[in-house]
Amino acid sequence: MLSIVVLISGGGSNLRALLEASEDAEFPARVVAVGADRDADGFDHAEEFGIPTFSLALSSFSDRDAWGEALIEQITVWNPDLVVLSGFMKLLPERVVAVLSPNIINTHPAYLPEFPGAHGVRDAIAAGVTQTGASVIVVDNGVDSGPIISQERVPVLPGDTESSLHERIKPVERRLLIQAILDIANGAVELGRLRSNLRPQRRGSPRPRKATHESP
Ligand code: GRF
Repeated sequence: MLSIVVLISGGGSNLRALLEASEDAEFPARVVAVGADRDADGFDHAEEFGIPTFSLALSSFSDRDAWGEALIEQITVWNPDLVVLSGFMKLLPERVVAVLSPNIINTHPAYLPEFPGAHGVRDAIAAGVTQTGASVIVVDNGVDSGPIISQERVPVLPGDTESSLHERIKPVERRLLIQAILDIANGAVELGRLRSNLRPQRRGSPRPRKATHESP
């Protein structure tokens, strides 16, 4: 059974989907704690499911490194197998990534490496593309640059606003997240063996869509 700490910043719809999936005795993962960088609305879901929460506002610490150390302490006390960033809107200090890597994943509302960053949905609308997507990636020290676990295209429809497009993407994100956790739990995806996007790609080599393992 995979134990998971989820970090959120907002409403926690992805968190809720994971909590609901975990109610199935067959689901191979359980959320053991939910953390946030603020008093996030998504804490309501955690409380409803009886999951402990912790909140660490960056502004309460002398600097990002001190905040990072507190985060490490709060997360590691649960000894999780996996940390899921789900709408967590702060960049993690390098030491947090170093301590948790590679067992830390993130969901993103775009087809990475297209539209990384905090405004992936808004940027897709502004670019006038006809399709964007959702991705689940391993967290590295870049902005949404980590190895891709899975991703799926989502159409942008005429008249879409940031909000209507985001609402179309979110169910896809949820499905990808749940499947990624299943794949990690049953060994179909090995996070430490996924190819890093920070390495130069060979010209002409296709981008991975599903889990891509390094050649032995
Ligand atoms: C998700 O689309 C996530 O990828 C993005 O913010 C949204 C969070 O939604 N960064 P929620 O808090 O899970 O409802």
